[in-house]
Amino acid sequence: MLTTGPRGTRDILPDSSGYWQYVESIIREVCQNFAYQEIRTPIFEHTELFLRGIGETTDIVEKEMYTFTDRGKRNITLRPENTAAVVRSYLENKLYAGPQPTKLYYIGPMFRYDRPQAGRYRQFHQFGVEAIGAQGPAIDAEIISLAVELLNRLGLNDLKLLINSVGCPVCRPVYRTKLQEFFRDKVSQLCTDCQSRYDRNPMRILDCKNETCIEYSQGAPHMVDCLCEVCSSHFTGLKELLSAAGINFIINPRLVRGLDYYTKTAFEIQYAPLGAQSAVCGGGRYDGLIEECGGQPTPGIGFAIGIERVLLALEKQELLPPLNTAIDVFVAPLGIELQAVAFQILTEIRRANITADMDYINRSLKAQMKYANKYPAKFVALIGQDELVQNKVMLKNMETGSQELINRAELVHMIIEGMEK
Ligand code: HAM
Repeated sequence: MLTTGPRGTRDILPDSSGYWQYVESIIREVCQNFAYQEIRTPIFEHTELFLRGIGETTDIVEKEMYTFTDRGKRNITLRPENTAAVVRSYLENKLYAGPQPTKLYYIGPMFRYDRPQAGRYRQFHQFGVEAIGAQGPAIDAEIISLAVELLNRLGLNDLKLLINSVGCPVCRPVYRTKLQEFFRDKVSQLCTDCQSRYDRNPMRILDCKNETCIEYSQGAPHMVDCLCEVCSSHFTGLKELLSAAGINFIINPRLVRGLDYYTKTAFEIQYAPLGAQSAVCGGGRYDGLIEECGGQPTPGIGFAIGIERVLLALEKQELLPPLNTAIDVFVAPLGIELQAVAFQILTEIRRANITADMDYINRSLKAQMKYANKYPAKFVALIGQDELVQNKVMLKNMETGSQELINRAELVHMIIEGMEK
């Protein structure tokens, strides 16, 4: 137990944390281009927020939340997603008082008690974006184009953008009744989950992965054919905007997202080689969520991308950049009695903003050179008794093999000059 982490969690080790930093740097670059600002909300929230926000009949709320009572008897949940929390923060901090729309992004861990497998974890990381306070389809197009731009900049192609409209409180009840009519004489053939979905949330039957349910839902009516005028013209507007921007999409009338807050636009980006966990990005519009959380009626739209899944896709396509562990200087004291002076030299070098390290475990000269080469280090600064007495350092250029005895006072200057060559 002590040497094994909880199931569904993973350590991000030094040999891969550089890849995370790389992806995060591209995320920040794209968000800056699109004028989105970072928000950091807490890892845990009141459970009530997710019950109300995500919806009590969703798999996330019913089966997947990490919920506990804290020592003050509060009901707390580790965030399974961040949209509800961003909306809570938007209202609590009165972000609606600033210029609208409020355009936010976040990167961080989420927690779901899911069945772990490749690309699915219990602690995973999302990059998400939320634009709150704009009504028309242009902001939907911007949000979708941000997701596509990020994935393209990372070099991922072969992506499938699926879009749908899930309607609004005006047209969805009509569709819901139509769906129930369609499934009425098929309910007993559906899986047990879908039998309970029939009454509570029949649209979710369309999303079921069970083969029998997929078969029985063939020919089911489509939401896009039942949209009210407002939702229909919003969807048409979005399609026109995406086409104008040259963003390819596929309309998937069966796309039903697993969170209850969605209205109108719903979308997903899939990368097929990831197999069962092919969804790298999911999002949509949530025009009722802000009001549900206690605010004025305010429209919103966003998405989240699973960072682990993006990294898996980048690895599969060999798109991860080589990681650079090189340093400029390795300081090598020839004996434990020279450690203090070596440390003094190391400190001077680092203060000049030069990347440097030294030997801390009293290695032989040969072992120190081998260690320096592993980084690799561009220079090794050798300090032995002779050098100490003369107040000098032997500076070896590891690339050319040449070495030079130089005055300590000139060391930093010489290194900088050598680095520029
Ligand atoms: P979601 O579809 O539940 O949406 O999650 C978004 C993405 O997070 C998924 O497409 C997937 O890449 C990743 N993901 C989800 N669960 C796991 C898991 N167990 N392990 C690894 N990756 C996972 C949301 O969370 C919404 N909040 C998105 C949104 C933002 N909608 C509007 N604004």
